[in-house]
Amino acid sequence: KFWNSSFREDFPPGPKPLPIIGNLHIMNLKRPYRTMLELSKKYGPVFSIQMGCQKMVVLSGYEMVKEALVNQADAFAERPKIPVFADTSKGYGIIFSHGNNWKVMRRFTLTTLRDFGMGKRAIEDRIVEENGFLTKDIESRKGKPFEITTIINAAVANIIVSILLGERFDYKNPTFLRLLSLMSENARLAGSPSVTLYNMCPALGFLLRNYKILLHNTSELHSFIRLTFIERLKELDKNDQRSFIDAFLVRQQEEKSNTNGYFHNDNLISLVNNLFAAGIETTSTTLRWGLLLMMKYPQIQSKVQEEIARVIGSAQPRIEHRTKMPYTDAVVHEIQRFANILPMDLPHETTEDVTLKGYFIPKGTYIIPLLASVLQDESQWKKPDKFNPEHFLDSQGKFVKKEAFMPFSAGRRICAGETLAKMELFLFFTSLLQRFTFHPPPGVTSSDLDLTPAVGFTTPPMPHKVCAEPRS
Ligand code: HEM
Repeated sequence: KFWNSSFREDFPPGPKPLPIIGNLHIMNLKRPYRTMLELSKKYGPVFSIQMGCQKMVVLSGYEMVKEALVNQADAFAERPKIPVFADTSKGYGIIFSHGNNWKVMRRFTLTTLRDFGMGKRAIEDRIVEENGFLTKDIESRKGKPFEITTIINAAVANIIVSILLGERFDYKNPTFLRLLSLMSENARLAGSPSVTLYNMCPALGFLLRNYKILLHNTSELHSFIRLTFIERLKELDKNDQRSFIDAFLVRQQEEKSNTNGYFHNDNLISLVNNLFAAGIETTSTTLRWGLLLMMKYPQIQSKVQEEIARVIGSAQPRIEHRTKMPYTDAVVHEIQRFANILPMDLPHETTEDVTLKGYFIPKGTYIIPLLASVLQDESQWKKPDKFNPEHFLDSQGKFVKKEAFMPFSAGRRICAGETLAKMELFLFFTSLLQRFTFHPPPGVTSSDLDLTPAVGFTTPPMPHKVCAEPRS
């Protein structure tokens, strides 16, 4: 039905595909979103492309993405089966799961994250505590140049780890470091051109080295998670649930007699893996963009520091300070807009036949909500290509919300960790700028710093070193 529909006159237009490769020859495989942004100029806000054998419909610009994901939310709520993720998560968990399994896992995830303090004081305290460890580690570098990725990853990971397991890891713990390196490597591999190619032509899989490493890493991660929760099972106390995993295991025991239930080990393993994957790389990449941008624009960094000094002084930054700090709030929002870490969102799939702007899109169509086109929509942002915190400030310097601020996407699949991520970004960012001034290594000037994104599942900054000068 899908193929037939794509020959209909009212199917979204797009470049003419070649046999087998489709439109691959015109795609920038390292940064496919850039080609899509170009194509939207020619074909408009709804167009089709074909990556290998996979036909896709791309939605571009704020109005169109909102029309689909928000106004026709249910029709755009599914995920397609993406070969590499279908192989690794088998449709279990939350991110790459479908139908009822997804609904049950999503509901459980949201309620349990809330119960364990997402958006509340309990998690805020945990972030504040982790900030202490992070700052101490950075202080020990004594202002010398260093690669900040590992330590930022570790601090951010500890927040999700403490929700999932009820404890944090020491930054030097070898198991923790292994876990982090597996997660980072998988994020890099999942965005690599060869895995993108595999997703389009799965028959090639057995040839591809990156794909094999990814499978191997995932099976190591799954074993780690399995071991961890088997340990927890021994001490499980229904009346003293200390973590997300405890809550899942209690539900599992309650539903033991239900053989059609969802609370089985495969869902637990994938869910925990999904939360690690979604919760670490995203937040940590955004924070690294933030520090790079502060080094690039030292005058913006000083304005944030002035506001911190005025509102917080030397006290501990807290969420309650946010409303009194419009400039910092605007900078954090602008970092997310500019960093644009999931430029093609995660793919969606239609659950029924739909019509968008007069075009017919059949049930089961692979949809790309091009978040990059929303975060850089010329009709919504004064200077879409520039880092410009004024995007979120009115003429009196008050913070203004922007509808087109959609780094977490929108609709039924909107990021399940948005509240947590926002808390982390504000608290980590303000605490770091309260204690340190970030600048490039000696011999590198601000204007030398490259803001071209590197290649990865979450578009990260290019590798770089930072100097964190302690502030007295
Ligand atoms: C999904 C962004 C942090 C958990 C997503 C999606 C985006 C996103 C764009 C896809 C939404 C869609 O399909 O339309 C971000 C950004 C983050 C962040 C920019 C940080 C700066 C987190 C954190 C968690 C998390 C800390 C941890 C709880 C999830 C989950 C999903 C998801 C579970 C899948 C939702 C579903 O399929 O129903 N996120 N995220 N994210 N995110 Fe986040």
